Amino acid sequence: MRILAIETSCDDTSVALVEDKGGFKVLENIVSSQIKVHKKWGGVVPNLAKREHQKNLPLIINKIIRGSDPDFIAVTNGPGLEPCLWVGINFAIDLAERLKKPLIPVNHIESHLLANWAELGGKEVKFPALALIVSGGHTILILVKGIGRYEMVGETRDDAAGECFDKIAKILGLGYPGGPIVSQKASELKKRKYDIKLPRPMIYQKNYDFSFSGLKTAVLYEFQNRSLKIRKSKDYIREICFEAQEAITDVLLRKTIKAANDFKVNTIILGGGVVANKSLREKFKKAAEEAGLEIVLPSAEYCTDNAVMTAITAFFNRDKAGDWKDLSADANLKIGK
Ligand code: KG4
Ligand code: ZN
Repeated sequence: MRILAIETSCDDTSVALVEDKGGFKVLENIVSSQIKVHKKWGGVVPNLAKREHQKNLPLIINKIIRGSDPDFIAVTNGPGLEPCLWVGINFAIDLAERLKKPLIPVNHIESHLLANWAELGGKEVKFPALALIVSGGHTILILVKGIGRYEMVGETRDDAAGECFDKIAKILGLGYPGGPIVSQKASELKKRKYDIKLPRPMIYQKNYDFSFSGLKTAVLYEFQNRSLKIRKSKDYIREICFEAQEAITDVLLRKTIKAANDFKVNTIILGGGVVANKSLREKFKKAAEEAGLEIVLPSAEYCTDNAVMTAITAFFNRDKAGDWKDLSADANLKIGK
């Protein structure tokens, strides 16, 4: 069975063709990044993103459609940026009609979670599991009783973790997207000398929620209160990036491990763009091992937005296949109960 999937929820135009052959075989996987377009604005501009999707999507589809012979068409219908979601949806409805194939709508959060199945091979995930989905738009903890059986147990009350990385990079004048840049600067730190201390918001609270907007403000004050000379120093930037990365990962890690213990799960599942962060990956692997938990996390390529994960999620939701002519974008689509 072959699924052709379209993902346009944010600023990447992605199309993939995936075949289910015992495991999943990726036949095509194209991700067209819009970073160049949004860079000068320091973040994603929804209407510019929409225009880019409209321009890129037909070109990408044309590259792979010939001989692709899909059994299903899949498309992300939320959550995400509404104008961007609509481009993918309208295109997918037309394509499904043209090829006379059923359409499957896909939840973007579920697809970040199921991105892991692209690389599992024959490995079974031991449920129940606790999933942490951390991206530019989401920071969510989900109790996963099985594929399709989700219960959201916590989320951010304000900014997402990826958004926090992006805003910190903007404050420090480092460019967009912030995560990879902050992570790079942090990795260059040799020795701390400025005694920078940032808060770990909500880390000891009993709930499984997060809050990152205060951390961003703390970075702003820390930066503004330094002399121009220090602000321009490479070592200072490395240290503040390192401390910010530590603060974000400390909170994500502690809350995830706490939830995993409280809900007595067997496995931790990670997903979303922030999981591309090397330091976060290492810390989670170590903590999972210490806690006697299994951990699954995608390679960096499948952490950030891609349509392979959309196709895989469609595979597990193929009971929803239909003509979906009235499918609409849902910017705030939720996962689970
Ligand atoms: O999952 P994704 O591609 O798109 C959304 O669904 O939001 O995630 C993008 C987010 C951005 O905020 C970006 O800064 C962050 O993931 N990100 C990272 C890293 N690579 C991407 N954050 C921290 N460290 C990274 N290496
Ligand atoms: Zn995403």
